[in-house]
Amino acid sequence: MDKLIITGGVRLNGEIRISGAKNSALPILAATLLADAPVTVCNLPHLHDITTMIELFGRMGIEPVIDEKLSVEIDPRTIKTLIAPYELVKTMRASILVLGPMVARFGEAEVALPGGCAIGSRPVDLHIRGLEAMGAQIDVEGGYIKAKAPEGGLRGAHFFFDTVSVTGTENIMMAASLANGRSVLENAAREPEVVDLANCLIAMGAQIQGAGTDTIIIDGVKRLGGARYNVMPDRIETGTYLVAAAATGGRVKLKDTDPSILEAVLSKLQEAGAEITTGPDWIELDMKGKRPKAVNLRTAPYPAFPTDMQAQFIALNAIAEGTGTVIETVFENRFMHVYEMTRMGALIQVEGNTAIVTGTQALKGAPVMATDLRASASLVISALVADGDTLIDRIYHIDRGYECIEEKLQLLGAKIRRVPG
Ligand code: EPU
Repeated sequence: MDKLIITGGVRLNGEIRISGAKNSALPILAATLLADAPVTVCNLPHLHDITTMIELFGRMGIEPVIDEKLSVEIDPRTIKTLIAPYELVKTMRASILVLGPMVARFGEAEVALPGGCAIGSRPVDLHIRGLEAMGAQIDVEGGYIKAKAPEGGLRGAHFFFDTVSVTGTENIMMAASLANGRSVLENAAREPEVVDLANCLIAMGAQIQGAGTDTIIIDGVKRLGGARYNVMPDRIETGTYLVAAAATGGRVKLKDTDPSILEAVLSKLQEAGAEITTGPDWIELDMKGKRPKAVNLRTAPYPAFPTDMQAQFIALNAIAEGTGTVIETVFENRFMHVYEMTRMGALIQVEGNTAIVTGTQALKGAPVMATDLRASASLVISALVADGDTLIDRIYHIDRGYECIEEKLQLLGAKIRRVPG
């Protein structure tokens, strides 16, 4: 298992390019299954989760054509089996995103039920109930969700999400695109990735209104066709590098990103003392060598502060001036990073869904273990500001969501290297 060794104490300084968004690329790849012609997805990030999705397509008999810039052409007409097996689903929960498209387009699907995961129990009941509302017959048997569309195909439905769910909204929106009649999704997720997926579906011929609001109206069409679509920039990768720069007192310019989808994060960074300048597709952060001030925050669905940035801000607070309270409301068990940071000298007290972080002047390098994707990002940030060397184990979590992290950090001056284990 590869590990990262980071020698802390360098102020990050420089410019890097932000990759395509993982959480947009995954549903968009799943959406290609709805088409009756090849779809090309561009600006895909080079990540382990994307490879897993492509491998899943391979298992289903589809051979994606990948070019050197990681554009992928998928011809869903070549599908042979409608099964997403447990070995793949257990490594990536987002595999559940193929459920809606397969039932809508091919009338049936078998997708392994994802289990719990490091950040919480994460049920998929809303995905199932949404499809049932559209007339699908669903049985959960032998650890698999077995779904069948009714005679004549899925029917448009009015569906209310009692919890805001990003992939739940995406799954049902994709299925509704090929259903008979109108679907209305209420209390839908408003995340920018939902909007990106809707734009891709619209480019394929879908009729969708209201993506980005809490009510999405989809008028089902008879067929969806081919398209060429560019995945949006990754707002969480962007936020992670901004926090890394702020924590080290440094300066970064991030290109090929979109400041308009990061408002909650940018305003917290300003509160922490960062100077932020933006252009249409870039963000510059300058901390002018200052130590950040601790911030209070509460995670919630978009446009509020993203749960996927919570761990990184705990790392920022850990070396900031003052005390910051961080409340996690989206997942029930997303503080595993706290215990690893404590090993580096962070002063953090967890009570239920609240972490109270008292900033210390310096963390100390230590061997630590990544527990999930964003937790691993927070350990990288902690290591960048720590005295001495930090060895981060289980970095396969990082490779799921951060493209070329060590190269990008090296470009910003960090002392980081990967050691094969
Ligand atoms: N939930 C239910 N029932 C459901 C679905 C969700 O109760 O059927 C609950 C979850 O347990 C959770 C809450 O609803 O408490 C929100 O979960 P959501 O469904 O929105 O999460 P997700 O769609 O599984 C996506 C991202 C996550 C991100 C969350 C929240 C993708 C592929 N994943 O997950 O990203 O944290 O939304 O914004 O889009 C990551 O990138 O590191 C990551 C975990």
